[in-house]
Amino acid sequence: MDIKNKIVVVTGASSGIGKAAAELLTEQGARVALVARSENKITELAKKLPDSFPIVADMSKENEIKDMIEKIKNHYGRIDILINNAGQGYGSPVEKIDPDKFRYLFDLNVIGPMVAMQTVIPIMRSQGGGMIVNISSGTSYMYMPSLGAYSATKRALNGLALTARAELEKDNIKVSLVHPYITATDFYKNTIKTEGAGGHVRESENGERPQPDTAEYMAEKILEVIRSEAPEQFAHEWMSKDK
Ligand SMILES: NC(=O)c1ccc[n+]([C@@H]2O[C@H](COP(=O)([O-])OP(=O)(O)OC[C@H]3O[C@@H](n4cnc5c(N)ncnc54)[C@H](OP(=O)(O)O)[C@@H]3O)[C@@H](O)[C@H]2O)c1
Repeated sequence: MDIKNKIVVVTGASSGIGKAAAELLTEQGARVALVARSENKITELAKKLPDSFPIVADMSKENEIKDMIEKIKNHYGRIDILINNAGQGYGSPVEKIDPDKFRYLFDLNVIGPMVAMQTVIPIMRSQGGGMIVNISSGTSYMYMPSLGAYSATKRALNGLALTARAELEKDNIKVSLVHPYITATDFYKNTIKTEGAGGHVRESENGERPQPDTAEYMAEKILEVIRSEAPEQFAHEWMSKDK
C-alpha cells in the first residue's frame, strides 16, 4: 500500500517504536493519529507532526479503544491503516507468573489489539479496504526462560492476526505482523519484572549477538510491510528460522 495521504492510527505513539513510526510515516506523507496514555508526550509530538491528532486511550480498556477509533474517524473522516503497537513486557519464570498481571498483559497485548481491529474492520470495509499492522515479537516463535507470559500474548496475537488476514482478504483488508528483535526503547524499563527473572538474548545463525536495533530501524520495517503487504515482517531475516 502506498503511504502517501493515508490516515494512520498508531497506538503506543508516545515512545519507542510507535513514536519513530509516527515520525517516519508523517515524513512519508501520512496523517497520523497518536494514541497513548501519556497526554503530555503525544501533545508535544503532535506539535512537530503536521496534521497529526493526539488522542489519549488506555489500550487495555475496551470502551476507551472504541471511543478512540470513533473520535479518529470523526476527525479525519476515514481510517486507512491501524498500527497496533502499544504493548508491554513481562519477565517471570512460569512458576511465578502472577495471574492478575498476566490478565492485564493479555488485555493490553491481545484483547486491546483485537478490539481495535474489530472496530476498524467495518470502517475499512465500507471504504473498500485498508491495512492492519500488528507489532508482535521475535519471541512469539521462541520458548525462552522468563518470557513465557510475554511470548504467550504475542503468540496469541499472531494467531488472531493471521486468521483475520485470511478472513478479510475478500474485503481487501490486509493484516500483517511485524516482529521486532531487541530494540533500544524504554521497553525493558517498562517491563513488569518478577525478582530473579533473567533476560535471554537469541544468537544469530553464526553465533553472533547482534546489537539492539534502533526504534528508527523498526519504523523502517513497519513502512516496508505497509508497502509489501506481506503477512509477516521480521526485524532480521534470520529470525524467521524460528518459525
Ligand atoms: N523493544 C523491544 O525490544 C521489543 C521487542 C519485541 C517487540 N516489541 C514490541 O514493540 C511494541 C512497542 O514497544 P517499544 O519497544 O516501543 O516499548 P516502549 O518504549 O515501552 O513503548 C510502549 C508504548 O506502548 C504504550 N502503552 C503501554 N501501555 C499502554 C496502555 N495500557 N494503553 C495505551 N498505550 C500503552 C506506551 O505509552 P503510554 O505509557 O504513554 O501509554 C508507549 O507509547 C510493543 O508491542 C512491544 O511488545 C518491543
